[in-house]
Amino acid sequence: MILLIGNWKMAPKKSTEALSLAKKTLEIARKYKKSIKIVSCIPSIHIPFISKTIKNTLYIGGQSVSASTEEAQTGLISAEMLASYGTSHCIVGHSESRERGETDEQVLSSTLLLLQKKITPIICIGEKQRDAQGWYLSTVKSQIESIVLGIPKAQLKKIVFAYEPIWAIGKNAAREATPVECREMLIFIRKVISDIVDIKTANTISILYGGSVNEQNGTSFILEGGANGLLVGRISLDAKRFEQLAKTLSLVS
Ligand code: 13P
Repeated sequence: MILLIGNWKMAPKKSTEALSLAKKTLEIARKYKKSIKIVSCIPSIHIPFISKTIKNTLYIGGQSVSASTEEAQTGLISAEMLASYGTSHCIVGHSESRERGETDEQVLSSTLLLLQKKITPIICIGEKQRDAQGWYLSTVKSQIESIVLGIPKAQLKKIVFAYEPIWAIGKNAAREATPVECREMLIFIRKVISDIVDIKTANTISILYGGSVNEQNGTSFILEGGANGLLVGRISLDAKRFEQLAKTLSLVS
């Protein structure tokens, strides 16, 4: 089963547009449910009414969660709140949140709180840029270590990593990553996990690819890149293109 996650980021602007997009995405999720699990990570303000209208088949996810249960945190939402609306997944450590100050320690705390509430954490990791000497590998390694060392082994199979090279994300991306670059990094990620725990555990963790994924390049990150699924930004806001992506994935799953 391929995991296809849409990260809507701070869109759509209006509640009516959000509901319409959720309904269209639900149709896509229904159509391809035998081979693809679709999760829409939507802005938290849209979660209550969309989760009320959309039940089953389409999984609703959050985009961030507080790293603590302390109530005095203006503007944040807790894992318990997400759980109370039936949220199944939540992104943590997205590069855009890290850019706003989210630390590795907070990413770990948020992950543990989500696991307590039986919400699947989608933990984003990835380097800002690549260098010929391979120093970028140490950035990714320390992001992985800070998570894997802090989670009980039995819980590790419940987390999902998403490798998102920051240089390949969004409309200002330097370029698209190649499936070979994706494959090499996924091998590296599993090796780092396996050095901390064991190969079996490392192989059970799902690893997604994200960064300028579209209906043309999506399958190559699965087939050649070795990813277990995709984390998609812009294309998840365009139901036609998202459906096309889902269709191509269903043919290779
Ligand atoms: P794009 O697919 O728009 O490059 O965004 C990727 C991303 O950040 C998903 O979390």
